[in-house]
Amino acid sequence: MGKTYSKGLEGVIAAETKMSFIDGEKGVLEYVGIPIGELASHSTFEETVFLLWNLRLPKKDELARFQAELRKRYELPAGMAQRLLSLPRDAKPMHVIRTMVSALSMHDLNPDANDIPSLREKALNILARTPTLLAYFHRYRIGMPLVAPDPSLSIAENFLYMLNGERPTETMAKAMDVCLVLHADHGLNNSTFSARSVMSTQSDMYSAVTAAIGSLKGPLHGGANEGVMVMLNEIPSVDAAEKYVLDKLARKDKIMGFGHRIYKSYDPRAKHLQVLARQLASDTGNIALYDKSKRIEEVMATAVAAKGIYPNVDFYSATTYHCIGLPLDMFTPVFVIARIGGWAGHVIEQMGDNRLFRPDVDYTGPHGVAYTPVTKR
Ligand code: ACO
Repeated sequence: MGKTYSKGLEGVIAAETKMSFIDGEKGVLEYVGIPIGELASHSTFEETVFLLWNLRLPKKDELARFQAELRKRYELPAGMAQRLLSLPRDAKPMHVIRTMVSALSMHDLNPDANDIPSLREKALNILARTPTLLAYFHRYRIGMPLVAPDPSLSIAENFLYMLNGERPTETMAKAMDVCLVLHADHGLNNSTFSARSVMSTQSDMYSAVTAAIGSLKGPLHGGANEGVMVMLNEIPSVDAAEKYVLDKLARKDKIMGFGHRIYKSYDPRAKHLQVLARQLASDTGNIALYDKSKRIEEVMATAVAAKGIYPNVDFYSATTYHCIGLPLDMFTPVFVIARIGGWAGHVIEQMGDNRLFRPDVDYTGPHGVAYTPVTKR
């Protein structure tokens, strides 16, 4: 096969999927053919994950069984909470969750089982326990008693309940659930690529998800939602937004929450999140935050939209998460919870038709260099 060089693998198709479809020019995202807006408006995160893992929507009783399977796994395996409580309190939640998802493998009697039923079982365990791990760590670091998971609650409700020690309002639980739906899957993005690449060596589900978390953490990927919030906090007022953005662009700095490798028009997830962010900001007295975001978007539209740079999923999710009351360093971990749906589905797809990921590299160094003994260098 002839070799072509594509820096960052741009434009390279490396796998097949039946889970999500993206048309970056038209701003379309579908999960198993269903437009993302439909799912965000009518579905739930659990139903969306069932859809991604089974390539069809569940019947009512199937959904109930799937929810029950997840909920009975909310509790951590024996010894896992002690492990968590031995971590430094000032550790960053993304480092904590990357470490603890990896540690979950040591509580699995057969962590390397890669047949499809075993992979599904591991996927359920990781998805159900990640919110518990995150919430327990947060309670521990702020010196508050841990709040045990409540199996009568959905993943979104239960996470907020364990984090804050009180049941979320219906509006907050719904907003959180919509965010999880919108972030669940997105083609062969960097973290999903990482998960599939690790799995292609026939490693294991825990290793694949751990690698994916490491990838998602980066500010060019899922870490951007925290970067957006930092930026919003740095801008003192709506009036100051234009100068802030233009100064950054003049320095060739990236504006977090804008631009995308695939979307060259408006990210459909950002469209949905914008509406949600505006509603929540007005309900929670945070409208100034939304107004600053809108102003940044206007400035970017004039300054760089011609380059195909629009808000991405991380831009309005920052305001949304802030209004839900999430601590800043929990923004990207929430993305982890959502994207486990996608990563695990991709791992299962990969094992259904595996080929080792092994791209080539263009060597640009010298050849035939004489070896110099250490005493003569
Ligand atoms: N702010 C300002 N300029 C930008 C931005 C941005 N956020 N994004 C891209 N550009 C500019 C680049 O400077 C470049 O301009 P030039 O051609 O004049 O040099 C041009 O647009 C192309 O940008 P690239 O970085 O080459 O595009 P790429 O496809 O590699 O980047 C990426 C995509 C990494 C997401 C980029 O847009 C970026 O860094 N955005 C900010 C971080 C961010 O929000 N990441 C989250 C992405 S969504 C997700 O992962 C969940």
